[in-house]
Amino acid sequence: MIWGEQPSGSALRAKAWFLEQGIKSVLVPGAGYGRNTKVFSSQFDTYGIELSSAALKLAVEWDSSTRFIEGSALEPQLEHQVDAVYCYDVLHLFLSGERCRLIDAALAQLRPGGLLYFTSFSDEDPNYGCGRRLEPGTYEYKEGKYAHFFSDADLREHFAGTEIVETGTFTDSLHSPQGGSHEYILRTILACKRG
Ligand SMILES: C[S@@+](CC[C@H](N)C(=O)[O-])C[C@H]1O[C@@H](n2cnc3c(N)ncnc32)[C@H](O)[C@@H]1O
Repeated sequence: MIWGEQPSGSALRAKAWFLEQGIKSVLVPGAGYGRNTKVFSSQFDTYGIELSSAALKLAVEWDSSTRFIEGSALEPQLEHQVDAVYCYDVLHLFLSGERCRLIDAALAQLRPGGLLYFTSFSDEDPNYGCGRRLEPGTYEYKEGKYAHFFSDADLREHFAGTEIVETGTFTDSLHSPQGGSHEYILRTILACKRG
């Protein structure tokens, strides 16, 4: 559990918004080992999609209430639509074409009027602009590791097909079980799927 056991504060904020809006079901693409799904599964029907079987083994133990699906979040995996999608730090992992596929897959699995809450690396993060540039805004900031760093305008452009409710920025801290910690500057977007 390399990012520790505590959920991101963004998951708590998303949950509060989902509760306010009367949401009953949530999908978490790129769910990892369930650090954030557990916030939702205590109150909503929660589904997690995750590519890594190692992460999924931990996830089913950590959060037995979420229904985890092994597969790619770049394609729809659910046979029905949910009321909300929460996606933490997955969108920035991909190049342009795959980022669009992730958003399209999330929208395909969301009911009209459903809610989206995404977080991603910000271009205000110190790693922005470090290393080899692969695409506009995308850098190999560590050897073999690349990410896309979003400006507010870029994030809004990615979600142009939705009704954007608000965007924001915050600093998230990840604490490893070994006692290390790391801070990231993230952007958030809250949006609704057009009816
Ligand atoms: C930075 S981690 C975030 C984990 C999780 N969202 C959390 O909140 O703890 C990104 C996760 O996305 C998963 N992932 C990467 N590509 C994926 C894909 N195509 N489909 C599903 N999951 C993917 C990784 O295995 C990893 O667990």
